[in-house]
Amino acid sequence: MEPLDLLIRNTSEVLTVEGTHREPAEQALTPRPNACVGVRGGRVAWVGLEAELPRGAIGPNTEVLDAEGRMVGPGFVDPHTHLVFAGERSTEFDLRCQGATYLQIAQAGGGIVSTVRATRAASEEELIRLALPRLRRLLEHGVTTAEVKSGYGLDVDNELKMLRVVRRLAELTPVELVPTLLCAHAVPEEFKGRREAYVELCEREILPAVAREGLARFCDIFVEQSAFTPDEARRLLTAAKALGLRPRLHGDQLTSGGCAELAAELGAATVDHLEHVSDAGIRALATADVTAVLVPTSTLFLRMRPYAPGRKLRDAGVNVALGTNINPGSAMSENLPLAMGLACLENGLTAAEVYWATTRGAALALGLSSHGRLAVGDIADMVIFSCTNYRHLPYHLGVNHARTVLKGGRVVIRDGVSHCE
Ligand code: NIG
Repeated sequence: MEPLDLLIRNTSEVLTVEGTHREPAEQALTPRPNACVGVRGGRVAWVGLEAELPRGAIGPNTEVLDAEGRMVGPGFVDPHTHLVFAGERSTEFDLRCQGATYLQIAQAGGGIVSTVRATRAASEEELIRLALPRLRRLLEHGVTTAEVKSGYGLDVDNELKMLRVVRRLAELTPVELVPTLLCAHAVPEEFKGRREAYVELCEREILPAVAREGLARFCDIFVEQSAFTPDEARRLLTAAKALGLRPRLHGDQLTSGGCAELAAELGAATVDHLEHVSDAGIRALATADVTAVLVPTSTLFLRMRPYAPGRKLRDAGVNVALGTNINPGSAMSENLPLAMGLACLENGLTAAEVYWATTRGAALALGLSSHGRLAVGDIADMVIFSCTNYRHLPYHLGVNHARTVLKGGRVVIRDGVSHCE
């Protein structure tokens, strides 16, 4: 065998996550007890027991990492973030703690549009300066790929500005970024009472401008009483599809709006939130193979009930993914392990299902066929954890277990946390 660039040895187990969401998650994680992982050219080149290492695998330039008897798995994929923004909304947090709701705050002129004001006023450089530490925190938690949405610009120039920031950030961080256009996040203040005109602007100007510059892979929309209607979503996402952007929806979050059914009808990649999804909606997602992205940190942060029915979604055969939803209004947290714990405690998922949801399940949601898995030929995004087994990730609630993080076979965080089982 040609020498490897890098070998991780002395693991408790390697989770290669080679199964599907239609089989029991414990099986889908494909645990390989005491296995080693070899990397060449940024890709997984070999997985097996050290005793079976092919001759010649270790050369003079092969870096050998000792996992010290701990677990190794694919880097996490965060499929839902709004991490480019300016300003902050701690006063809203305080108001909610005193009983105000997210919708009441939005109706009083706070919420998304207040972040729009701050983000419009910020330069590209300022937005980059603010986003980099958020990306760093994600990386420190083991996130090697993250989706990032626009949605705080809400006009042609500012939506383009946000997505150009995402493109520049991708050159400045080891985290691989997947950009999503979310111009239909809220009706901007200058279009108050003229929502039809804003939808028109999205369709006629923002979408084509973003597609022309190749700035986004997905187009998302917030379907809610306080945001856009299902008919508006149908119109914009159909236009997006024609421009080569795959549809996604924020749906059934604060109220039940038939969004899962709509996502299935439109062949969307994902529908996200889903606290109020109907049983018919769950069946539609399973049939149409739309991924359900759960973001329980925002259910907690908004002090809402119920949590999304993760158990029912999995049992119906839906691919369930899990994200942080980091944003200044509904989830000011880059802590993916906290979301993992909540997904077990409140969405009814098992630890294995949660690990699937943050690796392969999330990669498939983003259409990334060689991410979130460690089969030979896959991208060598990996985490050496500080624990011996994946159950510790949700169990040691909110605690970071990502000790060493590799992106494309390169160590980007080394010995970040101490062993904490
Ligand atoms: O995913 N629900 C809509 N969008 C965000 C919240 C954005 C904000 O409040 O700034 C979410 O929760």
